[in-house]
Amino acid sequence: ETAGDGLSGDGVRFVEPFDAWVVHGYSEVNRVLTDHSTFSSDELRYSARPIPHRDNPILSSLSAMDPPRHHLLRRLVSRAFTPRAIRALLPSITDTVRRQLADADGELDVIGRLGYPLPVRAISALLGVEADRQPDFMRWTEAITSFAGSFAEDPGRQAAFRTAHTELVEYFREVFAKHRARPQGDVIDILLAAEPDGSRLSDEELIDFCTLLLINGHETTKTLLVNTVLCLAAHPDALAQLRADPGLVPDAVEEVLRFLPPVGGTDRFTTGPTSIAGHAIETGQRVMAMVLSANRDPRVFAEPEKFRPDRTPNEHLSFGHGVHFCLGTHLARHELAIAVNALLYRFPGPWSVGRIATGHAPVGIDVLDLVLVSP
Ligand code: HEM
Repeated sequence: ETAGDGLSGDGVRFVEPFDAWVVHGYSEVNRVLTDHSTFSSDELRYSARPIPHRDNPILSSLSAMDPPRHHLLRRLVSRAFTPRAIRALLPSITDTVRRQLADADGELDVIGRLGYPLPVRAISALLGVEADRQPDFMRWTEAITSFAGSFAEDPGRQAAFRTAHTELVEYFREVFAKHRARPQGDVIDILLAAEPDGSRLSDEELIDFCTLLLINGHETTKTLLVNTVLCLAAHPDALAQLRADPGLVPDAVEEVLRFLPPVGGTDRFTTGPTSIAGHAIETGQRVMAMVLSANRDPRVFAEPEKFRPDRTPNEHLSFGHGVHFCLGTHLARHELAIAVNALLYRFPGPWSVGRIATGHAPVGIDVLDLVLVSP
C-alpha cells in the first residue's frame, strides 16, 4: 500500500499528524487535482475538521473556491497575468536583481538579498505600488505571509496580520479611487474595468486577490530560488553545464521545480464518498495531493532521484494542475531565470552553502537562512 514515512510511496493512506489522506503517485495526484467536483478546494464548506485559523474570509479567495464561482473570478483576474503584462515587469525585475547583487563579494545572503525582496518587488511592480509605499508594502507582506504560512494558532501573528491587512485595504481603496478618477494605463485599470458582459470585480474581491498574490507568489518564489542554489551547489557538474550553456537555465529551473517543489502538496476536501487506489474515503476528508511524490514517480520520470538540469520533457506538477493551475508561472519563471543568470555571472567560481537554517514545514523543506559562498 504505502511506505512508512507518509511522504513517499504509492497510493493513499491516512496520516494521523496531518489528519489527512495522503495521496502519492503521479496519476493519483493528477486525478485529485483534476477532478474538482469530487476534490473541492473549499475547506470551510466541505471539511469535517477545518484548521481553525483558516476560518478567515481573506484566506478564502480564488484558491479556496470551486467552479463555477472560481471560473468567473479567475477569468477576471487572469487579465493581470497576460504575457504582455508580465513582460512589462522584466526591466524592473532585472534592475532589482542588479542592485541587490551590486556589492556582493564572494558571499551572498540568498534570502535577504534576493529571495525576500525579489518576489515582493515584482508583485508590487505588477500592482503599480509607488516607490514611497514600498517599505509599507514589504511590512504588510511580511505580516500577511508569516500568518498565512503558519500552521499553529498564534495570537501575536494573528494580530499583526489583522493590522497589516487593515492598512493594506486602506491603501488599495485609495489606489482604486485614484485610478477611477484618472486611469494610469496599468494592471489596476485592467482589473477595475468591466468585461463586455458587464461582469466586474468588487473592491473586496480585488483586495482579496491582491492579498492572495502576496501569499501565493512570495514564499514559493523565495523557496524556488533557495532550492536552485542548493541544487547547483550540490551538483557542480550542473553548474558547469549552465555556465557553458546559459540557454539551459530555464530547463534547469524546471528540474529544480520537479526535484524540490516549493509547494510539496496541496489540500482538497471530499465532496462525497469516493475512493482512491481502491481505498474508500468518506465525505469531508482532507486529501493531500503530494506533488513531491508525483514528481518522483518512476513511471513518468526516468531516474527520478537524479537532478538532471537538461531533463526534457519535464511534466512536473509543481505549479498544480487543472482549474487552479498557478497563475504566476510566467512571472516566477522569469524572476528565476533573471536571478540565476545574474548569480552565474557574479559568482563564477564553485558554489557552496556557507550557512543554512531551516524551519518546520509540514511538507518539504523550509529554509530560513542561506548563504551562498563562492570565491
Ligand atoms: C496557485 C505553485 C508562484 C499566484 C498555485 C498552485 C501551486 C502554485 C501548486 C495550485 C495550488 C492548488 O491547486 O491548490 C507556485 C510555485 C511558484 C508560484 C511553485 C513559484 C515558484 C506564484 C506567483 C504568483 C502566483 C509568483 C503571483 C504573483 C498564484 C495564484 C494561484 C496559484 C493566484 C491560485 C490560482 C487559482 O486558484 O486559480 N501556485 N506558485 N504563484 N498561484 Fe502560484
